[in-house]
Amino acid sequence: MNDGATGAETRQKIVAGNWKMHTTVAEATALAGALTRDLGRIDSPQVVVCPPFISLAAVAEAVAGSSLAVGAQNLHWVEKGAYTGEISPPMLAGICQYVIVGHSERRQYFGETDETVNRKARAALDYALIPIVCVGESLSQRESGETGLWLDGQITAALNDLGPGDVSGLVIAYEPIWAIGTGRAATSAQANDTIGGIRRTVADLFGSEVAAGVPILYGGSVTAANSKEFLTQPEVDGALVGGASLKAVEFATIVRAAIS
Ligand code: PGA
Repeated sequence: MNDGATGAETRQKIVAGNWKMHTTVAEATALAGALTRDLGRIDSPQVVVCPPFISLAAVAEAVAGSSLAVGAQNLHWVEKGAYTGEISPPMLAGICQYVIVGHSERRQYFGETDETVNRKARAALDYALIPIVCVGESLSQRESGETGLWLDGQITAALNDLGPGDVSGLVIAYEPIWAIGTGRAATSAQANDTIGGIRRTVADLFGSEVAAGVPILYGGSVTAANSKEFLTQPEVDGALVGGASLKAVEFATIVRAAIS
């Protein structure tokens, strides 16, 4: 029986910065440049920066030759067509390596559903982009003890129709909605326990070997001050950082907290 923590030493640690709808192209380029200079070459964790679409190419150029990777914040699942304002997987492939899928802000404000999240995850994998699939419960769900069941449903739906090989190529981010941008982070024990539960769900669906290899990140009010606490938990394989990723020095401190 896999205890869920097995494999922690072999899973890739990842610290990703989600810049959301912040930074102009010039600001994004400057932030990426500052991070590249500060962090140089780090083998682990894998550092990922996720600027707005319009800055992806400039940021990719700014981090070229460093160990930083670039991610998009969203994608459409269709390859091309009459979908005004959307960005397709082949447009991203070649510019970035990662893509955030199903962030709670997209679910809340832009109508994303478990079904579209699943389509996006599959489309990303088809184009060799690594999806960072976000899941998380609301405060009322946490308070009424429904967290486990809810996350079970979100994971099952997001990974629908994927094979074990696909799941081995993706990343999951556990982001309790009540902790995002609120300054009210989960406790490290809550993050560790909940991520352990997500890993058990993945094991039930795809086998314990696959589950033991999937990086699962914590996100929600991660800062330089609390990052070490999260990043030293056995089930927590890294962080998805919003607000604190917009300050080069603070984000670099969080990255260093993940160096084992
Ligand atoms: P936050 O955002 O770090 O600002 O809470 C995290 C996220 O939404 O990914």
